[in-house]
Amino acid sequence: FTPDVIRNFSIIAHIDHGKSTLADRLLELTGTIKKKESGKNEQVLDKLKVERERGITGKAQTASMVHVANGKPHLLNLIDTPGHVDFAWEVSRSLAACQGALLLVDASQGVQAQSISVFHVAQERGLTIIPVLNKIDLPAAQPELIASQMTATFGINPEDILAISAKTGKGVEAVLQAIIDRIPAPQCKDDAPVKAFLFDSLYDRYRGVISLVNIQDGILRKGDKIASCHTRKKEEATDILCPGQVGYIACNMKESSEAHIGDTLHRVGEPVPPMPGFKPSKAMVYAGIFPIDTSDFPKLEESIKRLTLTDRSVTVTRESSSALGQGCRLGFLGTLHMDVFRQRLEDEYDANIIITAPTVPYKLVYKDGKEKFISNPTDFPDFNESSIRVTEVQEPVVKASIIVPEEYFGDMMELCYSRRAEELDHRYLSSGPDASSSRIILTCVIPLSEIVTDFFDQLKGRSSGFASFDYEDAGYQKSDLRKMVFLLNGKPVDALALIVHRSAQDTVGKSWVKKLHKVIPRQLFEVPIQAVIGKQVISRETLPANRADVTAGLYGGHYERKLKHLNNQKEGKKRLKRIGTVDLPQEAFFDILKR
Ligand code: GTP
Repeated sequence: FTPDVIRNFSIIAHIDHGKSTLADRLLELTGTIKKKESGKNEQVLDKLKVERERGITGKAQTASMVHVANGKPHLLNLIDTPGHVDFAWEVSRSLAACQGALLLVDASQGVQAQSISVFHVAQERGLTIIPVLNKIDLPAAQPELIASQMTATFGINPEDILAISAKTGKGVEAVLQAIIDRIPAPQCKDDAPVKAFLFDSLYDRYRGVISLVNIQDGILRKGDKIASCHTRKKEEATDILCPGQVGYIACNMKESSEAHIGDTLHRVGEPVPPMPGFKPSKAMVYAGIFPIDTSDFPKLEESIKRLTLTDRSVTVTRESSSALGQGCRLGFLGTLHMDVFRQRLEDEYDANIIITAPTVPYKLVYKDGKEKFISNPTDFPDFNESSIRVTEVQEPVVKASIIVPEEYFGDMMELCYSRRAEELDHRYLSSGPDASSSRIILTCVIPLSEIVTDFFDQLKGRSSGFASFDYEDAGYQKSDLRKMVFLLNGKPVDALALIVHRSAQDTVGKSWVKKLHKVIPRQLFEVPIQAVIGKQVISRETLPANRADVTAGLYGGHYERKLKHLNNQKEGKKRLKRIGTVDLPQEAFFDILKR
């Protein structure tokens, strides 16, 4: 295939608008995969079980197909992109290997938050965008209304919109034709030195790390020695790849960290300038993961290592907690990413794990101007006299956009205000005859920590599922934050430390103390449960003692024997108290920390 018959494209859409379904239809129409029996709706590109369960694609997959059009066979490379806000980075790097994108919008739901954000990423990258209206077979579809919404939002020509049903296959043929007619062929030279762009990596149990590359220039031949601009590592190509093509390079790497996404590969001895900078993935949510049975740690660590081979955006460091033992602190792109990872860990490795409350990376600014990032609440200063070297605490904030039918606008405003949102603004996206068809886009700046917990659930709950949500990084902002520590019988439980905003300290303290009170089993002595900030007790409850009746078996008037037993019991209690051992089974933590 010469570059002029190659098309590299991607399908971009809001979650559930039918990306995977359309990909399947394209693969079937081109005879790349067999048509499946009707009724079955398994998708080829979605791989992970948890993703199937949740109907989302986390990890981008890639497929090539051949289609004859205008009398010539064309090679179409579909680069799949994940459909969730956490994976914006994966979307951006997949798009870097494409010249065009199908922008898919559900004809019953209309333009949603991620439709807009992925559109912007594609536009910034200068891709040709083919707008596609999907699900026109649905009785609730409003193709004219949604098409006008698309023209207004994206500034596109109404004639350019293709109306299809990815489910029934209606109109999909025209999509193939549009890919060939409208998307430009990759611009590359076959006589130039080999320049390959590494845009993703996979892990194969037998072949090790597989790099997905897009050949920008030159012909990569079998046996060619290739080197990386970034790591300087050398490999041998096992297959021929021509300019414009997308392909795999399997090269015996054992660690996926050796395959740097965004890296440029070249033939040994023929260096090329590396392609311009790439946004590196940035962990925005951290959580500790511990085995329920502490002796399981080696197994857990091994499982985590293996999983990170296929998902390199997860960062891993060891962590040890006096309450939970040895564990790992993992950094994720977002909370969904965290849930996906946790489920994969549980599904694939049968791991019984405890995951601590998620936290975001906070920034401490010191007197001397130095800065430090903190991803574990235990490292947060107490702001007692000894630590006044920290002059300022900053937290990450994001620019959020929420799209809702007008009737839920008030609830959304309320939700945002309750989460410390600032700079609230809104405008109409489209106006319809009533409050359920008029839709509003609400934007605000909101602390990331406020959306990593249950924000998404609240948003969906309060809008009957109609609100869609997206956010982008908006830097750091000064904030009045404190570390809240929970004391059991006077002893801090490190795994439960939290960073809270001053305005929320009372509510948070109270609710956590209540939760602890509920799940901690009664001990032989009274256990005070306290939430404290510095030296100030924010909330307190007392777990009454479970007095074992040591005199139960003694009948009659043996008063002295009774007294002796009671005294022994007192001694025992004192000892326990002195050591401060609260008998806390790991399962209690599990109960506290599960959502
Ligand atoms: P993510 O990978 O999570 O972003 O989702 P997706 O965009 O890949 O959506 P997917 O293809 O999984 O489709 C979501 C749901 O919509 C599935 O239940 C599909 O069967 C359904 N669906 C997709 N296309 C059509 C269509 O044209 N008509 C109808 N009626 N349903 C469709």
